[in-house]
Amino acid sequence: MVDLFEDKASDWDERPVPQQISEGVYGAIADHVELSSEQRVMDFGAGTGLIASKIAPHIGHLDAVDISRSMLEKLAEKDALRGKVDIHCQDILAEPLEEKVDLVVSAMAMHHVEDTGALLRALYEHLKPGGRVALADLDTEPGDFHPPDIEGVYHHGFDRDRLAALLEDVGFTSPEFVTACDVAKEGRSYGVFLVTATKPS
Ligand SMILES: C[S@@+](CC[C@H](N)C(=O)[O-])C[C@H]1O[C@@H](n2cnc3c(N)ncnc32)[C@H](O)[C@@H]1O
Repeated sequence: MVDLFEDKASDWDERPVPQQISEGVYGAIADHVELSSEQRVMDFGAGTGLIASKIAPHIGHLDAVDISRSMLEKLAEKDALRGKVDIHCQDILAEPLEEKVDLVVSAMAMHHVEDTGALLRALYEHLKPGGRVALADLDTEPGDFHPPDIEGVYHHGFDRDRLAALLEDVGFTSPEFVTACDVAKEGRSYGVFLVTATKPS
């Protein structure tokens, strides 16, 4: 599989946009999602671990899932994750994890997966009954957040009502949205949401 983040991994953590987004998304997760030392949590599209390393002190175990080996190599270097993380460089839509989790978090990875329904079904299947998702991504944007020739970007953000309907189609209940942050990039502002939803017990 081609690693589309190979040239970005080395300085990802120093980039202002991922920094702003991870601060905002972690703040929204801390405010709206119960975290506990009993929980096993998956970070889907964990990247270099910007979100994972903030969550790790508050949970029991983390499964960091990504298809970019170079991003995961950076995640593996983080002290906050040492002894707490299993790293999975795999496409869980094609090759699911063996373990079920209590919570799936994700930041800015959904727009890289073409079939959002298939992704949500895969996340649902990875959750224990009563488990939750907390998924962050861009609100619908004009298509200029990424450079025009970028590979692997399938969505110009997401419409909240349509995403709520997709979550409910898959079986999740009570989808609720908050704005995690507004991120500034090249003179424009882009909304980033966090949606939480529950798999029935
Ligand atoms: C924009 S980065 C965000 C990384 C991290 N969540 C953050 O907030 O800094 C998107 C990440 O999603 C990963 N990704 C893209 N498609 C994926 C897939 N099908 N399965 C798992 N990860 C994927 C990319 O490799 C990349 O690391």
